[in-house]
Amino acid sequence: MNIFDYAKHLFFSPDLESKLLCPSIVDDFSGEVISEDVADLYPARDESISFSDEQVKFPRKGALRQDEKKGLALHFFANHELLAIEMMAAAILFLKPSKNIEHKEIQKIRRGLLTTIRDEQKHFKLYQNRMQEFGCRFGDYPLNDFFWRQMQKVKSLDEYLSVMAITFEGANLDFAHYYREVFKEIGDSKTSSIMNVVYEDEITHVALGAHWLNKWREDESIWNYYLNSLPELLTPSRAKGIIYDEEARTRAGLDSDFIKTLKVYKDDFTVTQRKEWNASK
Ligand SMILES: [Fe+2]
Ligand SMILES: [Fe+2]
Repeated sequence: MNIFDYAKHLFFSPDLESKLLCPSIVDDFSGEVISEDVADLYPARDESISFSDEQVKFPRKGALRQDEKKGLALHFFANHELLAIEMMAAAILFLKPSKNIEHKEIQKIRRGLLTTIRDEQKHFKLYQNRMQEFGCRFGDYPLNDFFWRQMQKVKSLDEYLSVMAITFEGANLDFAHYYREVFKEIGDSKTSSIMNVVYEDEITHVALGAHWLNKWREDESIWNYYLNSLPELLTPSRAKGIIYDEEARTRAGLDSDFIKTLKVYKDDFTVTQRKEWNASK
């Protein structure tokens, strides 16, 4: 299957099963991106998994001993995985690097994105299966579209990698680490080990972003290149979670200047407030 047909299948099919189609069937990486503005698009989703404006609070750490709250926490995580799959499909379909690069390089990026999609599908299924053991089905709670709304501001692959890999997946290093320990503390080793699978894979996803941004930045520091590639109103504050895992970022190939600068980075955090996470702090 051609990679564009595959990405279209993920993005434009409304049902969950289609979005979980394994990318191993892709054997043709050629093709030109579709010139359409991501700002005008929304991933197709049927009634059972449709987006909602209704706000649900992420459960507090202390409440996570209850199965119902565990299910709710995993429901949040699973939604992030599904959004990641749709955002990656959109990146394949609609985005080019801001610089002219060889077609061979584009094909390499596409392979990297497919490997990442495969991991996100795996994460989704791990969360979904565990959630079911807590009596929760995907779609039982409202599904927010925050990540997609950020994706709509993205105009190039540089911006995509800055937003997705370095910012959202970067923050997820911290969250996956934190919740791995939380579940371990409360004696839920099964959920803790799922968080560890996500954590380890996420390092490779951040590494994909770090690899290409490092290639494209030339003499600029990766921090500046990253900062200049972030769309308006999205700040590096979103690239950090409840804790700050420096080791994971080093393993992902981010340099020590970047890691130190991000660590001390502060802004008023108004637009990037994480309502769903605040309760757990
Ligand atoms: Fe994931
Ligand atoms: Fe990821």
